[in-house]
Amino acid sequence: MQDAIRYVKAAGGLIMELMKKPLQIQEKKNQSDLVTRVDMHSEHFLRDQICRDYPDHWILSEETDGGREDSHMMLQEPRQGYGWIIDPIDGTINFIHHLSHFAISVGVMKDGCPLIGIVYNPVTDELYSARKHGGAFLNDDPIHVGQEQDICEALLATGFQAKDWKPNSVVVEQIGRMTGKARSVRILGAASLDLCLVASGGLTGFWHDGLYPWDVAAGLVILQEAGGQVTNAAGKAFELSDTTLVASNSVIHEALISILV
Ligand code: IPD
Ligand code: CA
Ligand code: CA
Ligand code: CA
Repeated sequence: MQDAIRYVKAAGGLIMELMKKPLQIQEKKNQSDLVTRVDMHSEHFLRDQICRDYPDHWILSEETDGGREDSHMMLQEPRQGYGWIIDPIDGTINFIHHLSHFAISVGVMKDGCPLIGIVYNPVTDELYSARKHGGAFLNDDPIHVGQEQDICEALLATGFQAKDWKPNSVVVEQIGRMTGKARSVRILGAASLDLCLVASGGLTGFWHDGLYPWDVAAGLVILQEAGGQVTNAAGKAFELSDTTLVASNSVIHEALISILV
């Protein structure tokens, strides 16, 4: 855990330095699917640290593995031993636009199960962390999900994949269905931080289709350790190979799913 925190904080320092120079933005699959030289540097830095200190651990990371056609299915079969799942910058579009809402997300897995989660926003210096059965923290303070008892008190968030940024997307229709039921819906643009915000009570719930393991591996542990619930659309415990994620303070979970599905 302390090593993971050290790597992530150092990567945060690197990002803060590198963002002072031109970002060299490149398109990946389309105009909303972007990567910068800073994402690449952050990822290489993290991979190098882990390879040096833990040469027998596996690593899955967005900019190295994300181009693979089967990247969604990569964790269908649980991978044995210890592994690291890395998003070098979650919220790249926010980062490019100098919106201070992006994070480095690092999850550590053991025999197919999430064990440790670290999500770090280097601009605000907020570090969310959790270890299975060890509680969840924002910097040194324990965090817990919000106490909202009813969907009508809920502040929710959602998001969409770059490829789903088009008219008539399911998510647009789902947001419409929330109108008049939840208090409001936000699209904040960094899924790892959305999960942490549910964990610390700022949001009551979050849903998203088509996320990848690196978007959620760390946030899952943090939210569960903070007393939250994370499932797929059928209400079954969320697996990293699931396509839909529904997260909440647990109390409103059933109501949230019943409106979404
Ligand atoms: C994206 C963010 C965003 C979510 C997208 C992700 P990236 O990750 O988490 O909130 O809606 O689906 O792809 O590309 O900025 O690492
Ligand atoms: Ca991306
Ligand atoms: Ca991401
Ligand atoms: Ca990313």
